[in-house]
Amino acid sequence: MKKILILHGPNLNLLGLREPEIYGSLSLEKLDERLIKFGEKIGLQVSTQQSNLEGELINFLHDAVSYALGVIFNPGGYTHTSIAIRDAVAAIDLPVIEVHLSNVYARGEFRHKSMIAPVCAGKIVGFGWRSYILGLQAMSDLLASKKE
Ligand code: DQA
Repeated sequence: MKKILILHGPNLNLLGLREPEIYGSLSLEKLDERLIKFGEKIGLQVSTQQSNLEGELINFLHDAVSYALGVIFNPGGYTHTSIAIRDAVAAIDLPVIEVHLSNVYARGEFRHKSMIAPVCAGKIVGFGWRSYILGLQAMSDLLASKKE
């Protein structure tokens, strides 16, 4: 099966508790369970990681090259600030899909800018936890179309 990393950035460990009116009431653990199950259904072997630390997220991206075919990445607040994470995404030879639970474009202007988006294969925002499901479906289609 094709291996995919789902990487969650800072504060996403608090999913379900953190501003549920914006991010939903599902915990990270339950979300990951759903993503692993959905992955199995569409032929992807999903592994998940979360970190609140910029350098650790970069290490997870670097390591993914040795086992994964793609990454679904919610960089959280680092989306809007981190050149180092953008450089890591650009450095690895893997398709990365940026996802966000909330519609960042309907929120404060500082969330409209993504450092990461220009080096990603694509981006999905605003569908709650289903943004990740859509990301997995998009990754599956992308990997299939690469073979054509
Ligand atoms: C987020 C959006 C970011 O702006 C915010 O800093 C987050 C979560 C989302 O999934 O909607 O931490 O990435």
